[in-house]
Amino acid sequence: MRVRISHLKDRKQRGDKFAMLTAYDATMARLLERAGVDVLLVGDSVATAVLGYDTTLPVTLDVMVHHTAAVVRGTERALVIADMPFLTYQVSPSEAVRNAGRLLKDAGAAAVKIEGGRWITEVVRRLVDVGIPVMGHLGVLPQSVNQQSGYRQRGSNEREAEVIFNDALALQDAGVFALVLESIPADLAAKVTAGLEVPTIGIGAGPHCDGQVLVSTDLLGLHDKIPPFATRYANLSETIITAARAFVEDVRTSSSSRARTD
Ligand code: KIV
Repeated sequence: MRVRISHLKDRKQRGDKFAMLTAYDATMARLLERAGVDVLLVGDSVATAVLGYDTTLPVTLDVMVHHTAAVVRGTERALVIADMPFLTYQVSPSEAVRNAGRLLKDAGAAAVKIEGGRWITEVVRRLVDVGIPVMGHLGVLPQSVNQQSGYRQRGSNEREAEVIFNDALALQDAGVFALVLESIPADLAAKVTAGLEVPTIGIGAGPHCDGQVLVSTDLLGLHDKIPPFATRYANLSETIITAARAFVEDVRTSSSSRARTD
């Protein structure tokens, strides 16, 4: 049986922490699910993690539908959540419904994630009203990289911390079922987590959130540069380069039956 949205709230109540990872294709989704990951986020980080862009801004809805459908096909149990790309939910609530609808109807996601605070509560309400579960996202907002002048930690002064705390309450009131907290101080994340009934999921937000999320390509060591708060649990770059180099060598020297040409 698939993990359901209600299970996340149950887990918060039991104090049972959960793991979320990003996934962008069926193969990786299958492996992450086998590892016991409960929630897979098809992040718009597909832009930087996989597609070679510098920011998440260029990702389109069609791209998200394509990758989300692949992740859904690769899984049986995980809850699959899809990011709504930049400008697919900010223009109007009715456009947001139509676009989120594609992620559920055409791709099979169970929920969507959108970035922002009080200014998107009307959109959250409209989505939830029509039956589309919404995950919120506060702190560093990668889609607002130009507005936030980069990816520096948010909420480290009293004024910013208060805005984030109040935005979290406003999003919960609007109906989000969970909230990502990206790159905020651990004590602020702890305060938000204690102040909300819905679960928080931290990335660079300390250990006190109800769940933790990482970008899977950071976790697996597929890139040279990772954010300072991310942890590399493997170095797959090395493994891939070593395997490909061995193949190239086998082909050049025709020395091994491993490099079959028949
Ligand atoms: O797009 C993404 O991968 C995200 C995570 C960093 C939470 O939003």
